[in-house]
Amino acid sequence: MKFSFRKAALASAASLAMTIGAMAQADDVRVATDPSFVPFEMMDQASGEMVGFDMDIIREIGKRAGFEPKINTMDFNGIIPALQTGNVDIAIAGMTITDERKQVVDFSDPYYDSGLQLLVGVDNDDVKTVDDLAGKKIGTKIGSTSFDFLTDKFGSDATITPYPGSADMYMALIGGSVDAVFYDAPNVGYFSQTRGKDRVKVVGPLYEGQQYGIAFPKGSDRVDAVNKALAAMREDGTYDEIHAKWFGKAEE
Ligand code: ARG
Repeated sequence: MKFSFRKAALASAASLAMTIGAMAQADDVRVATDPSFVPFEMMDQASGEMVGFDMDIIREIGKRAGFEPKINTMDFNGIIPALQTGNVDIAIAGMTITDERKQVVDFSDPYYDSGLQLLVGVDNDDVKTVDDLAGKKIGTKIGSTSFDFLTDKFGSDATITPYPGSADMYMALIGGSVDAVFYDAPNVGYFSQTRGKDRVKVVGPLYEGQQYGIAFPKGSDRVDAVNKALAAMREDGTYDEIHAKWFGKAEE
């Protein structure tokens, strides 16, 4: 009796010491994200907190790597400058890893496979692929890879409008001021199944296989710890759980 009591007391003292150790190590890390990129990041109206796939991923990484993410929302195209000036320590915002961006920021290992897709009004039967967009009005997001894709493909042969916020971009499609929206497949797909249901539809193939990465100021010493945490989350099923929560059951 006495012996096991001592053991229990020792064990709880050890776990207390570990908790204190973890608390002492946890430092606040400034994490940039975009105010709205469903289902990766969005404001939960009830709690006023940012929620979504990216938010669960970064909070879990923080737990494992011993930091406390402090979420700062900003326009997507302000995120890379914020990393460059050292105003934030980490960014997670469904950001595609590109060679161009790699010149100015560092990326974690990829954490999500994505691509670009086309969205049109539910009654639009003219536009089936991006090749049908010549001469048309297309909405996309400022500073995004889809904007680059469209300008590379069309130059001035289409009217490309970059919107600062995705809500405005989708409203422009529903209101008929653009013929199509071209943007990240998971965001377009999510919108078409939620607020855009029965009003818009996804058409055509997935364009440009892309991968999202977590971004850091160049030379950041946090990259390794974040990659280790990500790998461990994939290994032990936590990644799949978070994926299933926001995207339904993992395919395959
Ligand atoms: N993946 C695209 C890019 O990196 C769009 C990302 C938009 N993300 C956002 N949080 N609004 O350009």
